[in-house]
Amino acid sequence: MNIEAALEEIGKAPTLESLQALKVQYLGKNGLVTQEMKTLGRLSPEERREKGRVLNEWKAALEKALEAREAQLREEALQARLLQESIDVSLPGYAFPSGGLHITSRIMQELVGIFRKQGFSVVEGPEVESEFFNFDAINMPDWHPARDMQDTFWVEFKNQPGFTIQGPFGEDVTGRGGAVLRTHTSGMQIRYMIQHTPPFRIVVPGRVFRYEQTDASHEAMFHQLEGLVVGPNITMADLKGAISELARGLFGEEGKARFQPTYFPFVEPGVQFAMWWPERQKWLELGGAGMVHPYLFKAVDDYRERQGLPRAYEGMTGWAFGMGVERLALLRYGIPDIRYFYQNRLSFLRQFRG
Ligand code: DAH
Repeated sequence: MNIEAALEEIGKAPTLESLQALKVQYLGKNGLVTQEMKTLGRLSPEERREKGRVLNEWKAALEKALEAREAQLREEALQARLLQESIDVSLPGYAFPSGGLHITSRIMQELVGIFRKQGFSVVEGPEVESEFFNFDAINMPDWHPARDMQDTFWVEFKNQPGFTIQGPFGEDVTGRGGAVLRTHTSGMQIRYMIQHTPPFRIVVPGRVFRYEQTDASHEAMFHQLEGLVVGPNITMADLKGAISELARGLFGEEGKARFQPTYFPFVEPGVQFAMWWPERQKWLELGGAGMVHPYLFKAVDDYRERQGLPRAYEGMTGWAFGMGVERLALLRYGIPDIRYFYQNRLSFLRQFRG
């Protein structure tokens, strides 16, 4: 056996498989070195010692060479793989289109944020509402002329047997077999009061619907923010303070609010309020407000009593307001047509992206 040739062969083995074959060929059970070892017994002690030493040297040299070549081959394989799988980080990437909040959502978040800072909680209610909560309980019975001011989508459940509107406790409040797409968020005043005892302050953001021919200033669907504060000593001054604070939150330190008497069935006295826009030096009519009408407290307490709950609103006072969210955006940004909000034209929406 030629050890030099063997070591050279190992050093040149092209693959891990061929290397393994060489290992077997020299060091395996029937390998060349192993066979030589078996002949040692037939030699004289002197020759045996000499040949044994040489064979052990061969064995060590072969093992070392095999190990070295194996490491080499593994490293080469790794390098080849890395090269193949490498990513060219200098390639230009794909631009992912990034969305943004709709202008209505942004204004709503801004409004809600201003009230949160004043300690208001945020609650939401159903968009398909019972006639009772949307109208009757807030002092708009069906004979009331104020109902005519709100053109209403009446919803019939004829084809949805078993579909009902639920009250605050899961009770059926569907009423005369129908319901409404809520015309305002004011019905939530009643839902909330039935379930909670004063004092509290809440705002209710939400979508509302009116059966309306759309034009530049009318949409059949839009958003409102409702506010309600009830407690033992709540006054009109608190209402003016909160709305004035809203004006400052929206229009800066020079922002201020103006109140003019008007009528809403659910408040007494009732006002409409406008805010001063310092930049443009003009008043913006933004919504209605007033002191909660005693009729509402009575309707709530009667309802509570029917549910086995104690009356909770005797001796309480409160104020409420309601305002249009798109309307604020229209005025503030000088948008000429309310229909732009929901036509999903990106060229319009992108101008207000957050
Ligand atoms: N619900 C009224 C509307 O949609 C707005 C409103 C006026 C809400 C006065 C109120 C309020 O809470 O006190 O026209």
